[in-house]
Amino acid sequence: MGLTDPGQKSSAEDRARRVREMFAKISPRYDLLNHLLSANIDLRWRRRAVRKLKPLLTKDARVLDVGCGTGDLSIELFEKTAAQVTGIDFCRPMLTLAQAKAPRLAFIEGDALRLPFADASFEALTIGFALRNLASVEDGLGELLRVLKPNGVVAILEFSQPVGGLFRRLVGFYNRCLLPRIGGLLSGSRGAYEYLPDSILKFPNQETLAGMMRAAGFEDVRFENLSGGIAALHTGRRR
Ligand SMILES: C[S@@+](CC[C@H](N)C(=O)[O-])C[C@H]1O[C@@H](n2cnc3c(N)ncnc32)[C@H](O)[C@@H]1O
Repeated sequence: MGLTDPGQKSSAEDRARRVREMFAKISPRYDLLNHLLSANIDLRWRRRAVRKLKPLLTKDARVLDVGCGTGDLSIELFEKTAAQVTGIDFCRPMLTLAQAKAPRLAFIEGDALRLPFADASFEALTIGFALRNLASVEDGLGELLRVLKPNGVVAILEFSQPVGGLFRRLVGFYNRCLLPRIGGLLSGSRGAYEYLPDSILKFPNQETLAGMMRAAGFEDVRFENLSGGIAALHTGRRR
């Protein structure tokens, strides 16, 4: 979806505002709930993304973590690689928490759909569980490609489609029935934890996202399933 039509533009802005307000509201409990609701598996997923990028990152390579939230992926990149890491997010309360956790890291406020960087600024990009929240996945991918240097690599970590019928039904039951209850109780925002499974269901599956990355202009697009496809790690390179 391009954002040229005025009607589309205002609905995209509305959606962005709602997403920003939702994360602001749950920010104090975001880390706790992430780890609790995933039984800490989210930490393994972020580590996997960083391990995948690490061999490609020379000393002082510039890496942007888009939709960095409270900074867990940025911090993992900072601690495990010699890259210069910047985190960007459009929700200030999430960034404030990130900055408190890692005072030496650069976190800036900004929109993933209008990144405040020149074309070809970064050797690598990460985006963890944020692409699903953008008003337009296509526009988000286009913007990621724009700020990547030639030969630069993007790593997209996102919830996906569990593989296998029974496992998919079990994960679906957990997402639909348990997650909103537990998440709602502990965060005080049941809506946010109803939005989560809903947004996962609406998000393109592994193959479709890989196709969208190719259509956006990424090359060498690959993905691996994490925890049976509950999440997936997609990578792609700018030519
Ligand atoms: C589910 S959190 C993920 C945070 C972090 N990457 C992680 O791995 O925990 C999604 C984040 O994306 C941010 N976000 C959503 N849409 C955005 C946009 N258009 N521009 C910048 N940040 C955005 C939200 O504010 C939120 O902090």
